Amino acid sequence: MADLSCNLAGIHSPNPFWVASGPPANTAYQCHRAFEAGWGGLVWKTIGEPIVNVSSRYSSLDLYGNRMVGLNNIELISDRSIETNFREIKECKKRWPQRAIIASLMADTRENWHEMMQRSLDSGADGVELNFGCPHGMCERGMGSAVGQNPDVMEKIVGWVMEVAQIPVIVKLTPNVADITRPARAAKKGGANAISLINTINSITQVNLDTMCAEPSVGGRSAHGGYCGPAVKPIALNMVHSCAMDPEVGLPISGIGGISNWKDAAEFIALGSTSVQVCTAIMHYGFRIVEDMIDGLNDFLDAKGMKSVNDLRGLAVQSVQKWETLDLHYKRMARIDYDKCIGCNLCYIACEDGAHQAIAMVSPNGQGLGPGRLPGKSIPKIKEEACVGCNLCALVCPVEKCITMVDISTGLDPMSWEEYQVRLASGKMKAIPAHD
Ligand SMILES: Cc1cc2nc3c(=O)[nH]c(=O)nc-3n(C[C@H](O)[C@H](O)[C@H](O)COP(=O)(O)O)c2cc1C
Ligand code: SF4
Ligand code: SF4
Repeated sequence: MADLSCNLAGIHSPNPFWVASGPPANTAYQCHRAFEAGWGGLVWKTIGEPIVNVSSRYSSLDLYGNRMVGLNNIELISDRSIETNFREIKECKKRWPQRAIIASLMADTRENWHEMMQRSLDSGADGVELNFGCPHGMCERGMGSAVGQNPDVMEKIVGWVMEVAQIPVIVKLTPNVADITRPARAAKKGGANAISLINTINSITQVNLDTMCAEPSVGGRSAHGGYCGPAVKPIALNMVHSCAMDPEVGLPISGIGGISNWKDAAEFIALGSTSVQVCTAIMHYGFRIVEDMIDGLNDFLDAKGMKSVNDLRGLAVQSVQKWETLDLHYKRMARIDYDKCIGCNLCYIACEDGAHQAIAMVSPNGQGLGPGRLPGKSIPKIKEEACVGCNLCALVCPVEKCITMVDISTGLDPMSWEEYQVRLASGKMKAIPAHD
């Protein structure tokens, strides 16, 4: 069994799986349930001056029978009193001293930030997370993403918080910016101990074409909301990577966004996260998902011979570099396993209409027939001279490992775009001919 314990800027938890600030982290009752299930930490639903919520709050993107691939919400921060929230944090911390409890905070003035920090300390919270990410409702009041989108303001407010901070401070970033490293650097300059990302993405998930009102409908009117769930994972991974790569950020990261299972979590950790946070998947399937996450991560680390989750952290960060550093001489090509092919022709039509016309449909000529294929039906054949190795056919093929992409030796030394430009300028090589 690998050691799953983690330490994010001094916040210790027995595993890297934390409940993210949101509906599952709203009450002591839920906190107890989460820790009973095995979660290593919990970021409390954001505490601030209590607000009033609307009744209809969520809307989703369903895809081909899969429910809630993306979730949209127009919920605000906690609608419970500040007193109740801190009293319950204290109660939970007493019962679960080994688990991490982080108070998520939102305030406006310097005095109010100082007061919230003092109350967090008094409650026994292990750390605080500053919510500069809420993309609706709170930003119109000068808080949430209104701060997260303005690095100068954020730096100033983080500075206020750090004036009195006696426990670690995590700054939670909004993804609704052009360059995530700018607010991340501002958090660092302000003195933060860690960052967490991402909060939700501005979105409208659907329009009801009978009522002509977007969802969620609040009595016939809607508002843009925050998007999360599996659909946002690729955006979150990219932003986590950008922060992990940037030496000017240089802060521990708590990764968030679309994490539903151990594999998602492992990918965030490989791209530089220390802990990971989950909201939508808990809202969908409950706290129990953490059992599989713990087992899955453990098995994976054991299989890879890693003694600790720390050995995994950041292993994939350097694999993502600027496009101009990639090898222009690298070549791959599609290969079809005819024993697996069911003759659905999806690869053919995708390549013919959406790629490079590199697949022909040919008669079987005695080729092995895969399960489900009718005898005599034509089969796809890769035209090797035309295949550019784009991967599209392998992505659309419905049969696992039926189309694989294989490396092809070109016999040429690696050459990046940067090197290509130098060689062209010095006359050492001619331009690579266009694909006419
Ligand atoms: C209904 C809902 C309410 C949320 N409320 C908060 C909140 O109060 N404070 C906060 O920092 N993030 C809040 N979030 C954002 C989550 O903490 C998280 O950053 C986001 O949902 C992405 O993670 P996920 O894809 O696992 O849901 C909320 C998310 C949802 C879905
Ligand atoms: S890899 Fe791209 S170009 Fe090659 S056969 Fe598949 S879809 Fe066509
Ligand atoms: S998509 Fe896959 S299964 Fe379908 S014809 Fe192409 S190779 Fe065969």
